[in-house]
Amino acid sequence: MSATARKKAPNAEDIRARKGGEPLVSLTAYTTPMAQLMDDHCDFVLVGDSVGMVLHGLSSTLGVTMEMMILHGQAVARGLQKAMMVIDMPFASYEEGPAQAFRNAARLMAQTGAGAVKLEGGVEMAETIRFLVKRGIPVMAHIGLTPQSINTLGGYKVQGRDDQAETVLADAHAVADAGAFSVVLEKVPQVLADRITAAIAIPTIGIGASAGCDGQILVVDDMLGFFTAFKPKFVKRYADLGPLAEQAIADYATEVRARSFPAEEHIFADQAPTEGSKA
Ligand code: KIV
Repeated sequence: MSATARKKAPNAEDIRARKGGEPLVSLTAYTTPMAQLMDDHCDFVLVGDSVGMVLHGLSSTLGVTMEMMILHGQAVARGLQKAMMVIDMPFASYEEGPAQAFRNAARLMAQTGAGAVKLEGGVEMAETIRFLVKRGIPVMAHIGLTPQSINTLGGYKVQGRDDQAETVLADAHAVADAGAFSVVLEKVPQVLADRITAAIAIPTIGIGASAGCDGQILVVDDMLGFFTAFKPKFVKRYADLGPLAEQAIADYATEVRARSFPAEEHIFADQAPTEGSKA
């Protein structure tokens, strides 16, 4: 079914059922207007913890808090009617163990209306994923490059090359067996992504992985050209809106300084306001 023909938002089981079917389309969003723009086109929208880098100027996702996720989640929820909303669990909100993860996942879902949470990690997170799913919280897993672990991974490196491949494959099996309804594969070699997609029964969502994945996701500010601090190889710029926005701002500044803005059509100068009248 095409995105525009959809009447209501899919849930986690609808997404799971798309394994091997028409590719799932997904983007991140952090605000109501952007969520509204993608609602007709995406199967699910992720309130990603990338918000910390693309909107808050943080140098990594590690400083993102529960409060930030809830605020942006509520904003995105107001813009969605047809697409499912998934929300990231921020760093340090789930790693202590299943009980901490449940408490924070339940809060994220209750306060934002998200249909599922996403968390990073493979084999080491399987117990937590199982605990959450058994208690009514659908989980999207995230393996390969897990940005919350850059300090132990040694940076934003491709994961799963050569003899690391078996580790990432084991992560994929672990999260699928634990009950995750889908799994993001970030920055893994194409052959490995294809192998994982063939090996597990839940949809794989690629970002820097393979066109053979069951779906794709991109950070919206990357693909629109708003986030320009760096551009990973896996990002395709579908538009270059950052320079367009800067030009518009420069034009405005020039016109204000030249007193050519506001022009006649922007002002209410036909009569002088009398006392007590409104502009
Ligand atoms: O936070 C994020 O944006 C992500 C990616 C998978 C897009 O987790």
